Amino acid sequence: MEKCAINGFYTPAQRARFYAAVSRRESVRTFISAPDGEQLSALQYASARLCLPGTRIEIRECDEKKLYGSMPFVETIMGTSCYAAFIVDMNVPHALEHMGISGEAFMLEAVNMGLGTCWVAGTYHRSAVDAELNENEKIVAITPLGVPADMGNKERKRRNLRDICFTAPDQWPLWAYNAAECVRIAPSGINLQPWQLNYAGRTLQLLKRSFVGSRLDMGIAILHMSLGVQEKEHVVYWGEGREVATLLAEDRI
Ligand SMILES: Cc1cc2nc3c(=O)[nH]c(=O)nc-3n(C[C@H](O)[C@H](O)[C@H](O)COP(=O)(O)O)c2cc1C
Repeated sequence: MEKCAINGFYTPAQRARFYAAVSRRESVRTFISAPDGEQLSALQYASARLCLPGTRIEIRECDEKKLYGSMPFVETIMGTSCYAAFIVDMNVPHALEHMGISGEAFMLEAVNMGLGTCWVAGTYHRSAVDAELNENEKIVAITPLGVPADMGNKERKRRNLRDICFTAPDQWPLWAYNAAECVRIAPSGINLQPWQLNYAGRTLQLLKRSFVGSRLDMGIAILHMSLGVQEKEHVVYWGEGREVATLLAEDRI
């Protein structure tokens, strides 16, 4: 089985920071201001350290009225001109899942700096993004970056844990239960939550639910699954077909 590049990529200190931000992260679409100079430097530093192979993150400025579009029932993004572009080299294997992992790690770092973010893969104008692209590179999503007008008061709309697990998760070991819970609260495009989890004999499988969901969503879920295991030693392998990844914990490694 092929190992995922996430294994050993983030330090225990980074993982602890990401994990602490998981339950505080939510999509922010209204901002008071762009990040200040210190926050911007910290974001630049983070962006240079978090990117798995085939991905990079560029921090830019743009008039938000030109950058963001609108969608029925979704607030339009406003209040900050600062954004990050998520860029993928389409020739690198698993680059889209890597971008899901790295982009989410970047957003969790931003949350720890008191900033708000929102994955935006659809409701933006690509022509307004001024990042320079190398051959084979593509912008797959952006996020606004700024001081949130409001955070922590939104109801988190998610499926129940039982509905995304094949067997009763309360019968699973704590690490597998926590990993599944961490996936459950992950963000996904149009909140589709396109994942299912299955535990058997020290392995936790992450599966794609039928045909819905993107490879970015599944990368985000891989990061959340790994963070949920916390300090317990584990390895993430790529799966095949509907099985996106398998996490093998401790004594079976
Ligand atoms: C890959 C991806 C793409 C997304 N694209 C958009 C988008 O184009 N516009 C938008 O307003 N929100 C977008 N979102 C945000 C989701 O709607 C949001 O994460 C989901 O509704 C869950 O809400 P939460 O992030 O507040 O937990 C996207 C999220 C993900 C993960």
